[in-house]
Amino acid sequence: MEKITAIILAGGQGTRMKSPLPKVLHPVAGVPMITKIISNCKKAEFDEIRLVVGHGQNLVKNVVDPMGVQTFVQIEQLGTGDAVKSAQVDSIEGCVVILNGDHPLITVEDLKHFISDFREQKLDLAVVSVELDNPNEFGRIIRQNNVLKAIVEAKDAGPDALKIKEVNTGIYIVKADLLKKYLPQIKNNNSKKEFYLTDLISLAIENKKNVQALCSKNKNVAHGVNNQIELAAATRIVFQMKNAQLLHSGVIIIDPTSTYIEDTVIVGAGTVIYPGVFIRGKTAVGPFCVIEPNAFISDSVIDEAVQIKAGSYLEQAIVHSNAKIGPYARLRPDTEIGSEAQIGNFVELKKVKFGKKSKAGHLTYLGDAEIGDDVNIGCGTITCNYAADKKKYKTIIGDRVFVGSDSQFIAPVTVGSDSIIASGSTITKDVPAEALAIARGRQENKLGLAAKFKK
Ligand code: UD1
Ligand code: CA
Repeated sequence: MEKITAIILAGGQGTRMKSPLPKVLHPVAGVPMITKIISNCKKAEFDEIRLVVGHGQNLVKNVVDPMGVQTFVQIEQLGTGDAVKSAQVDSIEGCVVILNGDHPLITVEDLKHFISDFREQKLDLAVVSVELDNPNEFGRIIRQNNVLKAIVEAKDAGPDALKIKEVNTGIYIVKADLLKKYLPQIKNNNSKKEFYLTDLISLAIENKKNVQALCSKNKNVAHGVNNQIELAAATRIVFQMKNAQLLHSGVIIIDPTSTYIEDTVIVGAGTVIYPGVFIRGKTAVGPFCVIEPNAFISDSVIDEAVQIKAGSYLEQAIVHSNAKIGPYARLRPDTEIGSEAQIGNFVELKKVKFGKKSKAGHLTYLGDAEIGDDVNIGCGTITCNYAADKKKYKTIIGDRVFVGSDSQFIAPVTVGSDSIIASGSTITKDVPAEALAIARGRQENKLGLAAKFKK
């Protein structure tokens, strides 16, 4: 099979984005546009990917270099034709797929489909078109008696051409030899004084090449991002597509229009997701969970039948089956919650291994700690992990310990299993197993003295 090289154009400034970030780095549902396009090209098994960069090239290179993509610098942004030239087409054999870096909704299936149409119809050059009710600023596909003739940019089009609803999506598939021969012949005699890649179509047709516009039914391929409104619209489409996929697989999403789940996330069937939930990154949620409104979950692993109650915030946490988290709990990185454990409201955990069936119901901070199984952590407990030497120290609490409310553990400290910490204790020394530790000021009752203070 012929080699396929992708050339992705991402040199333009993206002025209309009005943002300091290069256009192609703007995220669509959490993934930079260019990352999405490159990973789709890889999934479509293209042999080589060449990216044309220009504006903000260093920032773009930081993102794409780790993906093993070759970048080519377009020194001056002289138009899409000039951009393709910058990709040094002379060194390419086989066929070339040209894509705009600002069309983030093209799928792997779309790409495979266009290539197979191109091959089946034995074309020399194909442009992918779409029919739009509102063709706006898109280049128009000009046909005579249904035969493709040219592409005319909206800015250069007369009133008749502007009425045409079939538009250029900016996706082309072309034999490398044709590209090498006709690219240098493109001129810049147009309203923008730019070298338009679209002129390749008329050049090839004039030279009797086999050229077709492949009209796609999927309007998303024409979704270009030129401003923030189009970016937000693309993001909405991607989130809705993910929700649809999850609904089809048996996830219960109460209001898909207000639920945000990134493409990378896995959710098990039978899990219920309430409105306002945002789940991102490499998160996996098991089956039969309940995720209540406004929970934010990032890069976390949640086993089956877990309840994440309203307003909870989880990052890089692991929660085992049947645990209950929140409402308003915060699990910070490297926290692992055992099965059937309960983390209640206003409880913050960081770097904690929290045992099975243990409970921390209210207003507690645990950091750099190991908490055994069946432990009760009373309201207002604090592990004092951060010392004046700016180092972090660890608190270890054994199985079945009962920690009374308002206790502090001055780390490093170890509490043996089956012990009791009396309420209001400040624990500075290790506690042996099965001991009762009391570390608080003794109470004295001064009889009749209240009146003196109430005067
Ligand atoms: C282009 C097409 C238009 C099509 C539309 C689809 C041309 C002349 N017009 O118009 O027919 O309907 O895409 O979205 O090709 N770029 C460079 N260097 C440049 C200029 C552009 O790398 O010198 C890159 C941009 O970063 C962008 C892509 O090429 O990713 C398209 O450029 P843009 O200016 O957005 O083209 P449109 O005006 O949208
Ligand atoms: Ca564009």
